[in-house]
Amino acid sequence: MDQIHITGGTPLTGTIPIAGAKNACLTLMPATLLTDQPLTLTNAPRLSDIRTMTQLLGSLGAEVSALNEGRVLALSSHDIDTLRADYDIVRKMRASILVLGPMLARFGQAEVSLPGGCAIGARPVDLHLRALEAMGATLDLRDGYVHATAPAGGLRGAVVEFPFVSVGATENALMAATLAVGTTVLKNAAREPEIVDLAQCLRKMGARIEGEGTPTITIEGVTALGGATHPVVTDRIELGTYMLAPAITGGSVELLGGRLDLVAAFAEKLDAAGVSVEETPTGLRVSRKNGRVRAVDVVTEPFPGFPTDLQAQMMALLCTAEGTSVLEERIFENRFMHAPELIRMGARIDVHGGTATVTGVPRLKGAPVMATDLRASVSLILAGLAAEGETVVSRVYHLDRGYERVEEKLGNCGAKIERVRAA
Ligand code: EPZ
Repeated sequence: MDQIHITGGTPLTGTIPIAGAKNACLTLMPATLLTDQPLTLTNAPRLSDIRTMTQLLGSLGAEVSALNEGRVLALSSHDIDTLRADYDIVRKMRASILVLGPMLARFGQAEVSLPGGCAIGARPVDLHLRALEAMGATLDLRDGYVHATAPAGGLRGAVVEFPFVSVGATENALMAATLAVGTTVLKNAAREPEIVDLAQCLRKMGARIEGEGTPTITIEGVTALGGATHPVVTDRIELGTYMLAPAITGGSVELLGGRLDLVAAFAEKLDAAGVSVEETPTGLRVSRKNGRVRAVDVVTEPFPGFPTDLQAQMMALLCTAEGTSVLEERIFENRFMHAPELIRMGARIDVHGGTATVTGVPRLKGAPVMATDLRASVSLILAGLAAEGETVVSRVYHLDRGYERVEEKLGNCGAKIERVRAA
């Protein structure tokens, strides 16, 4: 398995281009199942998760062509020949559950393996299933699969009140509702930019949707959807991750394509920590003057709050801050696996349940560390950029799920970083 070697201590300067959002693309791609017309996605990120979704859709009979070096995805579900999404692909990526709603809505039937948990938590899909049942679906859970059947006349519009915010359940219900008979109202819906992006793409396909980005989304079902061409929204989590690179090393970097509205709560925390974030004509410039960042407290919440997907990366910064920070992880039950690895680098972190207390140290020390999940792995890279000496991060396949060519993007800004291909 590949490793990434970093020698820390160089302030970063330069520009980093931000790609299209992994978590938008992973819900836009299954939307192809809603129509027999072509769907084209531009500004697509080139990531292993996208290749996994491509493989899953292909296994159902859909065609997905990666054009322009993978930046354009041309999808067609004109010839779907099976409605069964197999465990051997679904287990690789939880977002696979997002084929359930579209398949059920268009074909009246779907068999999707339950995704199983992952490193950061059990991650059940009960809210997805409850929403589809509210629309009239019959669900039979057996042999690790959900066997879903829509009523003879198709799914029916319904009022769906989510007991708590779920990004994936909102996406599955939103897609299913576009072809249901009648009106669906999603209450306590997720407000993430990826939901807004999905709604905008569905609307181009002929869906009738109002309220995306607010807690209540109303969908008038239509009998069929057409094709569309849609640009994937900028990846706010990649953006926030790379904003932390100049913050933790000192220096100044422009994030090309960065949009402040996508990371407002995160940028406020950086400002409070003493890191400057400025809008430029081509993106966002992040700079940190001399001296250490200041400690800040963080609570992760659904959008527009501080994103859970930036918690691990922010912890890396706060390990070097002046003072003590308290980070509360409210979305997932086990999302501090980066802490023991950061402690190996000299960080002072006390974890109790969903709360981590970080006492900043002047300098971390390079060490061999292990990536455990996507965002934990990139927090170790950030820590390595600032640490004294060499950090070797192994199991970087986690990293490649969500970050395109991380060593190139950081290397172009002066970081001493290289990927060592495993023998
Ligand atoms: C999406 O996951 C993202 N993944 C995650 O990003 C992100 O962390 C998460 O939203 C929260 O923002 C994709 O978009 C592909 P949820 P999702 O449903 O939809 C619980 C990354 O690093 N829950 O909003 O699975 C769940 O266990 C990934 O890119 C239920 O209990 O998240 C979690 O504790 C990691 N039952 C909480 O709700 C359900 O039916 C929020 O989950 C659904 C969720």
